[in-house]
Amino acid sequence: MTINRPPMGWNTWNTFGPEINEQLVRETVDFIVSSGLTKAGYEYIIIDDGWSEMERDAEGRLVADHKKFPSGMKALGDYIHSKGLKFGMYSCCGTMTCGGYPGSYDHEFIDAETFASWGVDYLKYDFCYHTGTLAGKYFYRRIGAALANCGRDIVLAACSWGMEETQEWIKTTGSHTWRSTHDIQNSWASIKSITEQQIKMLPYGAHGCFNDMDMLIVGMGGNSFIDGFFETNGCTLHDHKTHFSIWSLFGSPLIIGCDIRNMPAEATDILTNKDVIAINQDPALCQPYRIALDRCPDDILVYARLLEGGDFAIGCFNMSEGDYRFIFGLDELGITATSGKTIVAKELWSGKDQPLRCDSFDLTIEPHGTRLFRCKVVDKK
Ligand code: GLA
Repeated sequence: MTINRPPMGWNTWNTFGPEINEQLVRETVDFIVSSGLTKAGYEYIIIDDGWSEMERDAEGRLVADHKKFPSGMKALGDYIHSKGLKFGMYSCCGTMTCGGYPGSYDHEFIDAETFASWGVDYLKYDFCYHTGTLAGKYFYRRIGAALANCGRDIVLAACSWGMEETQEWIKTTGSHTWRSTHDIQNSWASIKSITEQQIKMLPYGAHGCFNDMDMLIVGMGGNSFIDGFFETNGCTLHDHKTHFSIWSLFGSPLIIGCDIRNMPAEATDILTNKDVIAINQDPALCQPYRIALDRCPDDILVYARLLEGGDFAIGCFNMSEGDYRFIFGLDELGITATSGKTIVAKELWSGKDQPLRCDSFDLTIEPHGTRLFRCKVVDKK
């Protein structure tokens, strides 16, 4: 099977870690529907690590934790499906998951069958506790083969953190998405570091095997699982806007990681911005590319991406701690002075048109700030 857009959904891990249960998941499902997130495109409800019993059953099958999920995973999957959503689960290529629960090593086919029998649509597959004598690619080929033979279409979301040059072999495994970095933390430093690590990964993304930059931290305050449940400042909404813009422009899966039952209205506004999501989901699946490189320091990023129908997306990201003046021309998009063309640029967070000066952008952006444009190519008057 193939998928033709980066998956969008919600995952339990960032906020709750292994402290999950069926009530939390059901409530979240209800909120996803009532808050407009479903309409915006979020569809996968993904249960991450910590869902199973510590032992397999007598037939060697994985078993859901009876206390956390007393109705069982089939019933939970049915509930998720009854709301028009899709069901995601988690396992790991090693003998144990990262949290120490049973992993799928040497049980790939039986686990794929179990997930299929529960109605699973998406499997996140982690990289902990595998034998060092076998290269990572073989573990993903095993589960890829098992899922392809399980009788159900299941998205394979590889999670090998970019290790062993994941980008070089991941498309041989049948995976549909692949994590390119270690885990996101609830901080601006983490957003910045993951973004910088993408620069060499971008050529490997899109087209049916999407580069997963990890779950979103939009809507998370302090005090979540990935903060170690400590009180922290987390990020500002301003940071979250930049984070969501980068993940969108770069074509990452958009997997929400906050407690959406309690997220601030501003976070919902960010996560449901239709114009920004349209760039993430753009059917042309073109690779973004860096422009204005010769004029910018490392922490000043300008990226462009050609969209279906000939529009362009342009993102200007000030990852630094001071104001920065961005000046760049259209020639780097292929719109040269002799083409007779120019662009009309709409900034997607403000909804305003950005005036150009001599076919160039000239804007000053505050620290951690973003301007994300959708540009139409028009005749020059
Ligand atoms: C790894 C993954 C995380 C999460 C945890 C669960 O660290 O990268 O996204 O799934 O395992 O233990």
